[in-house]
Amino acid sequence: MCGIFGYLGNNQHAGALILDGLKALEYRGYDSWGVAIKKADGTVFIEKHTGKIGNASLPVFQSHIGIGHTRWATHGGVTNKNAHPHVDCSKKIAIVHNGIVENFKPLKSHLIQKKHIFTSETDSEVIAHLIEEIHTTEPDLVKVMQRLRSKIHGMNAIIAFFPEYESFYIIKNGSPIVVGVGNKEFFIASDTSAIIPHTKRIYFLEDEEMLELTKSGIRLYNNTGMKKKISYSTITYSAESAQKGSYDHFMLKEISEQPQILKNIIDTKKREIIQAAQIIKKAYGTYLIGCGTASYACLAGTYLFSKIAHRHINFAISSEFSYLVDFLKDSSLVFALSQSGETIDTISSVKKAKEKNAKLLSLTNSRGSTLYRMSDYNLLLHAGPEKAVASTKAYTAKIAFLYLIAHKIAKTYSLGEKNLTKAIDEVTEIIFHKSKIQSLSSKIKDHQSIFILGRGVSYAAALESALKIKEVSYIHAEGFAAGELKHGVIALIEKDTPVILFNPEDETYDDTLSAAHEVKARGAHVIGVSSRNDDVYDTYIEVKNCGDATIIPNVVIAQLLGYYLSLSKGHDPDKPRNLAKSVTVK
Ligand code: F6R
Repeated sequence: MCGIFGYLGNNQHAGALILDGLKALEYRGYDSWGVAIKKADGTVFIEKHTGKIGNASLPVFQSHIGIGHTRWATHGGVTNKNAHPHVDCSKKIAIVHNGIVENFKPLKSHLIQKKHIFTSETDSEVIAHLIEEIHTTEPDLVKVMQRLRSKIHGMNAIIAFFPEYESFYIIKNGSPIVVGVGNKEFFIASDTSAIIPHTKRIYFLEDEEMLELTKSGIRLYNNTGMKKKISYSTITYSAESAQKGSYDHFMLKEISEQPQILKNIIDTKKREIIQAAQIIKKAYGTYLIGCGTASYACLAGTYLFSKIAHRHINFAISSEFSYLVDFLKDSSLVFALSQSGETIDTISSVKKAKEKNAKLLSLTNSRGSTLYRMSDYNLLLHAGPEKAVASTKAYTAKIAFLYLIAHKIAKTYSLGEKNLTKAIDEVTEIIFHKSKIQSLSSKIKDHQSIFILGRGVSYAAALESALKIKEVSYIHAEGFAAGELKHGVIALIEKDTPVILFNPEDETYDDTLSAAHEVKARGAHVIGVSSRNDDVYDTYIEVKNCGDATIIPNVVIAQLLGYYLSLSKGHDPDKPRNLAKSVTVK
């Protein structure tokens, strides 16, 4: 969601740097883009476009400062005028913004009364005019930005660019923003992936803070305008790990990385897993929360903790958890799962839980992310950068952590490791023979709907699998608890409707097999995913029994199916329509 990239330094090709920075952020999702760059002759070049950057280039001119933005529309349609940067009436202030100015309507009316002329339908444009208005009576830009902050409601990251003074002022509340510091040069970005090719020295701006970047240096202020010391973080992953390499798509690359990531969890994460198990054991009630794919990992977690560790762990999707916090206590534990660590629904519900003094354990893929910094205890997935919008490797890594934590609590850790190792072997096999899944995709690609059924932890797998298929192929896919079939869903089954059944040889096996017969009797094309073949299956995909870790290879099958369905429909699996990788607005 909205990408921001800014540059200030000695490089005289700021335009090209900014464009490259925006391209590195494309994976976040956007529908228009724009730049504001100060040219060497002192004029400011502003250009905005709808659609993707693609092979666009900017006119060649010398410049060493500027800012760019990729917009994911919220307020106002996808038009050139609504694209950022937005400027004030004097055109001396250019702003880019990620988030929502919740009170933009009264602010805009007030500014219109003050004779400001608006040119877009966005909430963001009020920021430029408000800065201009405050600046008429307040010359000190630090104070201007402080006053701006006090007038704006909502979760936002704002960069104000003053070409005349060659300076940037950055404030944030909720939405992420990072600054990279190189050799006498600064890079501003919405996340580290765009900065990492230039420098590994990063500052993650905190809420209530303000950064001032000028030719003479970088200064950090607290919310009262007092200067603060900056403690930089060092990014550990390489720029290459965020590239596609020899793969056609990030999605396939990330699916293929899973065996190595899961192995790494077994080999290197035992200490953290033991700590997490202790934290959960001590807590008076644990609540697993996440959004989308992360939420389905949480749901799987409730089954795994119940069955393996005999422990009841609550589950809620983050956007609903805010309405469930009333019963939290200081001894409660919120266990938040998020690949990015920046998902606003998760962050805002966690804030509510923290107001109740609940403790926060997070499992993220992003050291230094907002969720990471808010947490009392951190677990890191170490899955490497996930650039495809559809989450794959972060999901299986989350499951591996939850699975091993449950085994740790149950004092059956070696069994957990053994089953997870079997699951890794199965995932490796599935990826090696992925052409089988590709053939299945060509058989079912023209169907309007695909149904996926499972019981127990396989129900959670069914939900995640359906999400994967629908988000990249745009085919209607629904996951259901197999037991719910006869309570309504079966009405949707027609001749040849593809129905995938996750049927591991566990306590759900016989009942799920009955569901297979029920849909078969209504003419469905029954696709059985199991360690045991049965006549009822029209298509059989073998997945050997890996105990409860079988959920991992099962979901990998759906990841590949989604990928190939997407290709067969002519879509780009890495950048599905309407979706953003990092959902930083409500
Ligand atoms: C689906 C997907 C999303 C994310 C969700 C949460 O493939 O990627 O559903 O899982 O937006 O994102 P994180 O894990 O970053 O909090």
